[in-house]
Amino acid sequence: MKSAKIVVVGSSNMDMVVKTDHIPVPGETVLSGSFFMNAGGKGANQAVAVARLGGEVVFISKLGNDLFGKQFSQLFSNEGIDITHLRFDDERPSGVALITVDKAGENSIVVASGANAHLKDEDIASALKEIETAGIVLLQLEIPLLTVQHVVAYAAGKGVKVILNPAPAAALPADMLSQVDILTPNKTEAAMIAGMDVTDIDSAGRAALAICSMGVKNVVVTMGPLGAVICDGKKISLVRAREVETVDTTAAGDVFNGALAVALSEGRDLEAAVGFACEAAAISVTRLGAQSSIPHRNELVAVQLNLASINPAN
Ligand code: RIB
Repeated sequence: MKSAKIVVVGSSNMDMVVKTDHIPVPGETVLSGSFFMNAGGKGANQAVAVARLGGEVVFISKLGNDLFGKQFSQLFSNEGIDITHLRFDDERPSGVALITVDKAGENSIVVASGANAHLKDEDIASALKEIETAGIVLLQLEIPLLTVQHVVAYAAGKGVKVILNPAPAAALPADMLSQVDILTPNKTEAAMIAGMDVTDIDSAGRAALAICSMGVKNVVVTMGPLGAVICDGKKISLVRAREVETVDTTAAGDVFNGALAVALSEGRDLEAAVGFACEAAAISVTRLGAQSSIPHRNELVAVQLNLASINPAN
């Protein structure tokens, strides 16, 4: 079956990862960690996830004109990603993320955005044709918010489906929310956007409803090992995730978003697409790293949808 083209607009980082017992508190030095480096960045992770899961993907990103930038563009091309619209910045370095992963697989991340922070409207100009002929445009928030707003408005104006992964958490303008087809916050991001606590499935449902009332058509709150809560403004449902042994949660949200876009581009409905995305994310958390953890399509053979209706009033 021919799927619709997916355009991903977002960041690329080189992830410097230290795996250790616990994440240090300010002033603390933790000895005996192990180090490894792999390509990351929310945008790049989502683009690679789309490619590995069988989607046709164009990636728009700004890289430094440096060693990492050259490596990224080669890596993307090897993955089968269309890199025609990658931009290179002669003045700023490629993005770098310093990541600590503890023994429970939780992480803390500091990003030096470099060139990512300078992906501007003019860098997107030559890619507008790609955007208007896409089935889905997928964005996150590691590039300037103004650029995100510009792309969302352009895509929505052309009738292209927009998925916005509001990560890392930021306040979002109301007019942009009303142009988004599917918003995919995690529970922290959902709490910030809705202005209420999100601690469990019911409160995630309430936050999703509140976000829909701000104009977003569909909200999918990712709840880690619990699965994901879906809301279209009226109905709320929960897609449960398969239980797995967690090694590293880095990029699980990115894998989820890439997989969601692929499944929708193949014509699945939202609940089935979320089931596919939960399974891809579950596989990724069993592995260390960002792009090193992203599964290929043949690893997601038979996804069983484990669906429940929820009533957030309970
Ligand atoms: O979502 C995970 C990503 O966040 C990492 O790959 C890191 O680069 C940061 O951008």
